Amino acid sequence: MTMDIIAELTSIVGADAVMNAADDMAPFLSDWHSRFAGQAHAVVLPQTTAQVAKIMEFASQQGIVVVPQGGNTGFMGGATPDTKGNSILLSLRRMNRIREIDPTNMSMTVEAGCILQTLHETTEAQNLYFPLNLAAKGSCTIGGNLGTNAGGLNVVRYGTTRQLTLGLEVVLMGGKVLNMLSGLRKDNTGYNLRDLFIGSEGTLGVITAATMKLFPLPVARSTAFAEVRDVAAAVKLLHRLQAASGGSVEAFELIPADILHVLFEHFPEIQQPLAERGAMNVLMEIASTNPNSGVADSSGQIPLQGIMEDFLATAFEDGLVIDATIATNEAQRTALWDVRETAPESHKRSGVVARSDISLPQSAIAPFYAEMVSGIKAIDPTVRICGYGHIGDGNLHFNLVSHPASNTEFAEKIPSLFDLLYETLARYGGSISAEHGIGQVKRDQLKTVKSAEILDTMQAIKTALDPQNLMNPGKIL
Ligand code: FAD
Ligand code: LAC
Ligand code: ZN
Repeated sequence: MTMDIIAELTSIVGADAVMNAADDMAPFLSDWHSRFAGQAHAVVLPQTTAQVAKIMEFASQQGIVVVPQGGNTGFMGGATPDTKGNSILLSLRRMNRIREIDPTNMSMTVEAGCILQTLHETTEAQNLYFPLNLAAKGSCTIGGNLGTNAGGLNVVRYGTTRQLTLGLEVVLMGGKVLNMLSGLRKDNTGYNLRDLFIGSEGTLGVITAATMKLFPLPVARSTAFAEVRDVAAAVKLLHRLQAASGGSVEAFELIPADILHVLFEHFPEIQQPLAERGAMNVLMEIASTNPNSGVADSSGQIPLQGIMEDFLATAFEDGLVIDATIATNEAQRTALWDVRETAPESHKRSGVVARSDISLPQSAIAPFYAEMVSGIKAIDPTVRICGYGHIGDGNLHFNLVSHPASNTEFAEKIPSLFDLLYETLARYGGSISAEHGIGQVKRDQLKTVKSAEILDTMQAIKTALDPQNLMNPGKIL
């Protein structure tokens, strides 16, 4: 049976695009955190939509499960098959052509396997900007970003992947191709199938290409790292900076002291932003596409830097900011961003971690945070409270990292810490998944936060599009 599958897949994509040796398949069959390990008949790497359609036709005829995968950087185990061994791991990595860049329509049509950073480099070379940005940019793909509706560092200004998408090309189980590629900004022609596939984590179909929005390239930035009075001050500062900069806040990230402690334990070579590690900090960036905003005027002041300096000076006088530094060149800016972007890797290295990805109304963030800190300390005073991230979007990765000396005891406390987290979150009207999705990690938890009516409707959509339950089963539902 397996040999027939390999022979058929080989006839569709060629021998060099089918792997079935255990060593070759291993990197595709476990996730970024090495939390899940699956099995598959084969890893298949198609290069065209027509090949994907043929694979999906064959899979449907034979009752074979298909698990789509891009860069395999997802956090929810969504791209890892189960251990039954009846899956094809469909890697889209070789579908990586940029089909078109249309500078007049400010859009690009790209294949699913394009690496995010390659899209940045290619568009920037044409003075255009694709603003989706996450620390995994060197390996995640646009197909995976669409599959998870990724958020990242610039959502506060440009929205999530869904909001950056104009059109999609999707292959359904059975091999039907839905060509919904379109550069239209407005199009009310029936149900919006595009948005249904975005964030469906490979459970409804395979995204093979997408038309994405482009923006003018920012030519000036001001990036600052500030120790702030507390979380409430951070939220206040976000709104003040939006007002002061005319809505030019490109990123606004919360960084508590424990993030810095864990980071510098594992990455001592990274530069510490301020002389003292403040209890609560914000990394913020404003940006402009106006060339004059980055050039010194007759008084010697650079307008964008001036906005940041004035904003910080006022915030300092008002007691919201305790200390701050502004990057004055690209190297300093990169150093500040290294602090933020290396946080996930430092958590991975630090051993026992309870990870989360929550969102809250802006008004609830400060009281939620304060309640969590006192509740966590009551359960375990040694835990490192790494509630960090995209506070500009109301999204925190409220991670709890074990103190190195108490890994075992901490692991035992994780269930009660999660109970506290999610019970508090529910009271404040938050979401259990802001940007990472559900995958296999939060599948059971989804059932506890959605009504039976909503779950039934989701299941009805799944069954309509994938009646044999062959598209990435065991994920989301
Ligand atoms: P994969 O991990 O390969 O797949 C993810 C899901 O999408 C799976 O369910 C898979 O089946 C499905 N999928 C993949 N390709 C397709 C396709 N072509 N068609 C249909 N379904 C598909 N995420 C954020 O949102 N914000 C962040 O700031 C962020 N930061 C990160 C930082 C680091 C260091 C790392 C390692 C990860 C981070 N992530 C973040 C998580 C991850 O990078 C994103 O979820 C990303 O969008 C996944 O892309 P990928 O190509 O690696 O997808
Ligand atoms: C981050 C990832 C984990 O923002 O989403 O660091
Ligand atoms: Zn994030």
